[in-house]
Amino acid sequence: MENFEFYSPTCFAFGKETENKAGEYVKRFGGTKVLIHFGGGSAVKSGLIDRVKSSLDKEKISYTELGGVMPNPRSGLVYKGIELCKKENVDFVLAVGGGSVIDSAKAIAAGVVYDGDFWDFYQGKQIEKALSIGTVLTIAAAGSEGSPNSVITNENGMFKRGARGDALRPKFSILNPELTQTLPAYQTACGITDIMAHLYERYLTNTKEVEVTDRLIEALMLTLIHEAPRVIENPNNYDARANIMWTGTMAHNNSVGVGRSQDWNSHALEHELSALYDCAHGAGLAVTMPAVFTYQMEHDIMRFAQVANRVWGCQMDFAHPEVTAKTGIEALRNFLISIGMPRNFQELGAKKEDIPKLVDVLCNGDGRKGVISGFIDIDKDIAQKIYSLML
Ligand code: NZQ
Ligand code: ZN
Repeated sequence: MENFEFYSPTCFAFGKETENKAGEYVKRFGGTKVLIHFGGGSAVKSGLIDRVKSSLDKEKISYTELGGVMPNPRSGLVYKGIELCKKENVDFVLAVGGGSVIDSAKAIAAGVVYDGDFWDFYQGKQIEKALSIGTVLTIAAAGSEGSPNSVITNENGMFKRGARGDALRPKFSILNPELTQTLPAYQTACGITDIMAHLYERYLTNTKEVEVTDRLIEALMLTLIHEAPRVIENPNNYDARANIMWTGTMAHNNSVGVGRSQDWNSHALEHELSALYDCAHGAGLAVTMPAVFTYQMEHDIMRFAQVANRVWGCQMDFAHPEVTAKTGIEALRNFLISIGMPRNFQELGAKKEDIPKLVDVLCNGDGRKGVISGFIDIDKDIAQKIYSLML
């Protein structure tokens, strides 16, 4: 195991009706003037935004609001939010929504206290400070409610890039599984796929002897495999929703990823798909993961055979571990298809003729130096081969 520091200061408030405590939590963490940030309408329609406002009113905390965050959130609204926060002297950003809303809130929070262009952070500049952030989560997926990350699409070139910094970790996150019951089955499945990817991309490590985190990841994967069909069959199954929601947070606050190298090649290849086609991140991952894993299998067959055996219940074939490994990737693919996810470019709405463009932006776009590094290094030639496996 490698040396590590793990800092995860977020206070999680989990359970029914916890959104009514948003005001109390903002107060506890020092907020006096709040920006309520939300998406395209689901949180308004469900009455959630009104409940959050009431809880702020109860604590006599004033607020301003900015809605309209799109899935795969855009830089344009971030600039607007930064201006609004400066004008209104906002000191706390409250995101009410999914990963897109939370990531947009994080970008605003970092941009308000920075003199330069917030996009610098998405080109590698370290984030030292940000306004305090709180979240009320409405979809179990991205894990942004507990992560130090934010992913934004720059409309100037349509680059989808990530920024990172502990200052982006929310002060609190309110997790009420009931709020996810209004999700369409497709979005629920996209979320489950994203969580599975966050687990796989930590499992695929080049660090040896990391039994504790291997076993924790396996437990979370098994939970998803058990709960996914239950929640797809009955969207109002509170306990299944609750188990998936906490799995989503645990999968990405890095408690199960410490002390080990991680992969993230599937995410890198997927981000180019959701940037170009505006598909859901989870749907893109459903197509990306089996292709990336099939290509990466040779690099460490025993790792793929191990997850196949321990998580997917495949018979371990010690004489031919590549057979076990391959069967495990097939089991993952079948699981994703069973919850309604696309299996290839065509079902995702992606086009074969765009592969050169995807490869170019992945490896050289927005200042990149030609190689993506994860479980293996991916250059243009390899990226082209992997995208071709998705046809
Ligand atoms: O905009 P509204 O109307 O709210 O609709 C949203 C959106 O259309 C809808 N939705 C959310 N909660 C709902 C609901 N509809 C009905 N009932 C509810 N309770 O669902 C749609 C998708 O929402 P979005 O926030 O985009 O989903 P998700 O949480 O999957 O976030 C995806 C974004 O997060 C990024 C992705 O790249 C993508 O841009 N990621 C962020 C990460 C991070 N910050 O740590 C890590 C991830 O790997 C990921 O890359
Ligand atoms: Zn993700």
